[in-house]
Amino acid sequence: MTVVSGMRATGKLHIGNFVTLENWVEIQNKSNENFFFVADWHALTSHYDTPEIIETSTLDIIRHYIAVGLDPEKSVLFIQSAIKEHAELYLLFGMISSVSRLERIPTYKEQINNISNKDLTNLGFLGYPVLQAADILIYKGDRVPVGEDQIYHLEFTRDIARKFNMTYKEIFPESQPIISKVPKLPGTDGRKMSKSYGNIINIETNEKELKEKILPMMTDPARKRRTDSGNPEKCPVWDYHKAFTPSQEEKDWVTKGCTTAGIGCIDCKKLLIKNMKKRLEPVWDKLANTTLQDAKNIALEGNEKARKVAEQTMKEVREAMHLKW
Ligand code: TRP
Ligand code: SF4
Repeated sequence: MTVVSGMRATGKLHIGNFVTLENWVEIQNKSNENFFFVADWHALTSHYDTPEIIETSTLDIIRHYIAVGLDPEKSVLFIQSAIKEHAELYLLFGMISSVSRLERIPTYKEQINNISNKDLTNLGFLGYPVLQAADILIYKGDRVPVGEDQIYHLEFTRDIARKFNMTYKEIFPESQPIISKVPKLPGTDGRKMSKSYGNIINIETNEKELKEKILPMMTDPARKRRTDSGNPEKCPVWDYHKAFTPSQEEKDWVTKGCTTAGIGCIDCKKLLIKNMKKRLEPVWDKLANTTLQDAKNIALEGNEKARKVAEQTMKEVREAMHLKW
């Protein structure tokens, strides 16, 4: 089994990314071939006018990969743009990618319709799923841990693999997603996590800041007073408990206390802070002891390993497509 996944380099990683990374670490420890990279080219498809942000994010993300527990002995950690073969495969996949099929991908349609402050009618953005297919298939990835929103891209990846295998030669597997069990975390105000809303908690934070963000968090609006009962399902704090409170006993304490007004929201949030701190503290320590230079050294080694595999696949692809020049 070969596992491949990546994160776009668009800024600091937040606690939603933390939950994803924990999932990757678990997968890494069960699988013998893992490729985890930073998708800096993908970040450029939408953030093409701020390349300096992508540059600083890229190494910082590798630093976070290491801090959360991705292990360079078990996983190849690398940077997408260092492996030019991804771009070559992307170009060749372009020959068998239908433009109308790409325009119909729901994530694309949604972003084109909803993002008004940015021109996303560039070729690179339309080709995003083609590049993603190249990222995965160049390592012959069977399994791809991703969020629910990526299923369309994985479907597209399988379409491309099938079409390539039929047209030229059986080279690629049909990659399946591994969808994480923990649902997407909302921002501290209950809306979608977004830098522009200022409702994000970064992984790299501390206890003081954690308190400052969790204590004023939005709760079920029905609980205006301490004596009003509430419904956890209507409360973003509960979403955080689902991700950070593993103990069933504690979760039952929240559900019961909330629905009967037995506990106050502050009690509930204090428990959350305690549990978040417990999970994040080792990562904070590791981050404090991992420099960007450490991350760079690891990425440079990872790049070499990834390149060897990518070069081999491209040999096969060029041969299949009569491009042996
Ligand atoms: N599109 C993915 C995301 O936004 C990032 C990504 C790029 C990726 N290439 C990939 C994920 C290859 C898995 C495999 O999350
Ligand atoms: Fe939300 Fe907890 Fe308050 Fe219930 S008790 S509304 S789950 S913060």
